[in-house]
Amino acid sequence: MYLTNEEEKALDGEHGEVVSLAMRILCALGDFFEADRLIPVQSAHVSGVSYKTGGEALLTTLRKFSSMKAKALVPTTLNPGGVDLERWREMGVEEEFFEKQKKIISFYTDMGILATCSCTPYEAGNLPARGAHVAFAESSAVAFINSYLGARTNRESGLSALASAITGKTPCYGLHVDGNRRPTVKVKVTASLESPTHYGALGYLIGKNFGDAIPLIQSGRPLPLVEAKHLSSAAAASGAIALYYWGEAPGDSDLEKVEVDGRSLAEVFELFGLSEEPEVIVLGCPHYSIHEMRKVAEMVEGRWVKTPLWIFTSRQVRHLGEQLGLVQKIEQAGGKVFCDTCPIVAPLKGFRNLLTDSAKAAHYAPSMNKMESALLSTDGCVRVALRGVQ
Ligand code: F3S
Repeated sequence: MYLTNEEEKALDGEHGEVVSLAMRILCALGDFFEADRLIPVQSAHVSGVSYKTGGEALLTTLRKFSSMKAKALVPTTLNPGGVDLERWREMGVEEEFFEKQKKIISFYTDMGILATCSCTPYEAGNLPARGAHVAFAESSAVAFINSYLGARTNRESGLSALASAITGKTPCYGLHVDGNRRPTVKVKVTASLESPTHYGALGYLIGKNFGDAIPLIQSGRPLPLVEAKHLSSAAAASGAIALYYWGEAPGDSDLEKVEVDGRSLAEVFELFGLSEEPEVIVLGCPHYSIHEMRKVAEMVEGRWVKTPLWIFTSRQVRHLGEQLGLVQKIEQAGGKVFCDTCPIVAPLKGFRNLLTDSAKAAHYAPSMNKMESALLSTDGCVRVALRGVQ
């Protein structure tokens, strides 16, 4: 990979040990993927935050970066960690876990990284413009910003996104290159998409069937923001979709065409079924927006949930929800609104199964949380929460 004189100097340590380390990471990545050069990134989003998933190895890595005085050169946000930093006791988490989680986040904030602790950084100020090159880890955000915003990122790891944050560069390959962003398969959707969860189920199906393809999805329906979040997150979880097109795309005439009908979508919901009544209902994967929170608040207002209802969002959205009285309505009904963490990277203590409106959470719960999972629309989930165990 070609390096400018300035980049050679950075690699050789002229800008410090940690910049040299970050350059070595990016050069190894670039050489592996046969990138021709490095390009500047406008922002980064770093994953690898939860102590549950990263453990001691994550602490050791971050301690090393911290000892070398790493600093983010470009605006950088952070993915969810393993607990709500203020209400961790309510999540049944031990103090030792909380302390380690706090340490991980303080390593990142010492680097100048914003502790947004959310997988929807585009709703918290890290909103890349169409055509902007960025380095995002967090597969759901990658698929969302490439597809919905028209920004450009590869599926970065936590480490490569951190290296990009420190250097302000990323290797130019994959989805940074025009010619690699053309659709590779056409998906005709005849199934009716009744709720955001149906868009998630569609994403699940597409990811499972097409791996890392670039689908052009045609349904004749619009793709609102919440629906795009569900579609992006599920397609990136069951497969490795990093970019899709909705409706139209350049150069789509000769593509293989596959149909998704109502039966195939129904099979996704059938796949996620519980053998027992749900023990907890989790919403907010990806993190809930204020609009999604408002919907739940209106459904539960003045009532009482009989099954624990846990909603996950960013701290910014939670603050907004408090200002609007939405958090109060949900919590007066017995629900909980947590932030800084998520239903998959938090240790959900004391529950054997969950019900969710997120195809991504339903997909990961068995492997990440060792919990059975079931999938229903948001309305269906809230109705079950209000009805309780039969
Ligand atoms: Fe976000 Fe966690 Fe889901 S990071 S997309 S809430 S698995």
